Formats: sequence, structure tokens, C-alpha cells
Amino acid sequence: MTDPVLPQPEWRNFYGRRHGKTLRPSQKTYLSEDLATLRPSGVAREENPDRLPIDPAAIFGDARPVWLEVGFGGGEHMVHMAARYPQVGIIGCEPFVNGVAMLLGKIRTAGVENLAVYPGDARDVMEVLPAASVARAFLNYPDPWPKRRHHRRRFVTAEHLDPLARVMAPGAEFRVATDIPDYVRQTLEEVPRAGFRLEAEGGTPWPDWISTRYEQKALREGRVPHYLTFRRDGG
Ligand SMILES: C[S@@+](CC[C@H](N)C(=O)[O-])C[C@H]1O[C@@H](n2cnc3c(N)ncnc32)[C@H](O)[C@@H]1O
Repeated sequence: MTDPVLPQPEWRNFYGRRHGKTLRPSQKTYLSEDLATLRPSGVAREENPDRLPIDPAAIFGDARPVWLEVGFGGGEHMVHMAARYPQVGIIGCEPFVNGVAMLLGKIRTAGVENLAVYPGDARDVMEVLPAASVARAFLNYPDPWPKRRHHRRRFVTAEHLDPLARVMAPGAEFRVATDIPDYVRQTLEEVPRAGFRLEAEGGTPWPDWISTRYEQKALREGRVPHYLTFRRDGG
């Protein structure tokens, strides 16, 4: 059965979940009423099979700085950033439909208007964004894939980082938050290899940070957050 809401890029090796608990009626309403307007056009493969570059200025109506959030989960960080930085436009990507529905509810409550929501894999977005078009990117608590044989599924692999490096402007900031020590290790190894330099790392969050759902769970379970800041080479 085809999904009425989400693109189904089965040709991609996506290993995460796309669906969770049954959506509440209100969440179904958000998806059917709000997603079409918030969704950037030209990203889904079926809409743009030739993968022609999209114009970020067309998404936000002007040539504002564009930020990218990979895997926004319930959307609390994305909405917080959108409210805090109304002069930027943030594109968020999340293949988990329950997360997308949660974000849409938060957007209604907060009334922020500088967000675009792609209900799918960040690689689809990176593939069609022009080179050097992103001024900041966030990777908050990426899926940990703890088993050694699954480490190559992590976001911090060349398969994801090379496209990210292409779309990030020289000097653009890339923030990573994780609670998994081995994820820190792999991030420190792989991100510089993709063309970024480490600027800071440690247990103190960024001044404008808001703790996410996943971070709250990690803290409850006794894990320790780690925050890493990189800059795209060339700035
Ligand atoms: C552990 S959760 C963290 C969610 C949120 N950032 C937080 O801190 O609460 C990781 C999220 O990344 C999403 N994700 C995994 N691979 C992705 C990809 N290729 N593109 C976009 N999102 C992805 C998952 O669906 C999941 O919701």
C-alpha cells in the first residue's frame, strides 16, 4: 500500500522506523492540513526524478540564511531555533511520521513561519540543495546503532557526510549532540575526513541549546551528553 503522506524511497538503505504508535486524530489533521504547505517542493524523488537543484530562496520567499536539521524527532529543537532566529529559514528532515506530526503540532502552537518540513531522509534534501547553500546544520542525538556491525549505518559516515559537506558553505557550523561515547569517537574520526574542522567539544551545550526529548531520556537513564562543534573547511 502506498503511503498518502510520506515518500517511500525504498531504493535507499534507510534502517530506521517510519511509523510508531497510531496517530491521534489531531495529529492526522496536522499532517493532512499543514504538511503540504510546509513541505519543500522538488525534494521527493517522485516529484523531481532528475534531481534538479532546488532554490532555497523559493522555499522561504527570500534569500535568507538556510539551516538544516537532520532527524528532528519531536521537533522541540527545531521550533525553539525557529523562534529564536526568525531571520533564518530552517529545513528539517525526519522520516518518522509520528515525529513529523509532533513537530506540526508544535509549529501550530508556536506560530513560527520560518520552517520547512521534509518528512523523509535528509539525503533526499542534500541531494537537491545547491552546493554551499547551508549556513548551519544540526545533528541532535542521531540513531546510535550500538552494534559494531551496524556502525556503518550511522549518520557520521561518508555516505551522509560527503553530501552534507557539499551543501554546507565554507565556514558553516555543524553541531552534533550525542550521549554515546563510541558515537563521539566515530564523529571525531569521520567528520574531519569529510572536510570539517573541530572547533569545540565537551559536556557544555551551546548557549542557545534546548534539551530534546531524546536527551531527556538519556539523562534519565544516566547517560552523559556530549556536544561537538565543527566548521566546514574554507571559511
Ligand atoms: C534518536 S532520534 C533523536 C531525535 C531528536 N533529534 C532528539 O534529539 O530528540 C534520531 C532521529 O533521527 C532520524 N533519522 C535517522 N536517519 C535519518 C536520516 N537519514 N535523515 C533524517 N532523519 C533521520 C530518526 O528517524 C530519529 O527520529
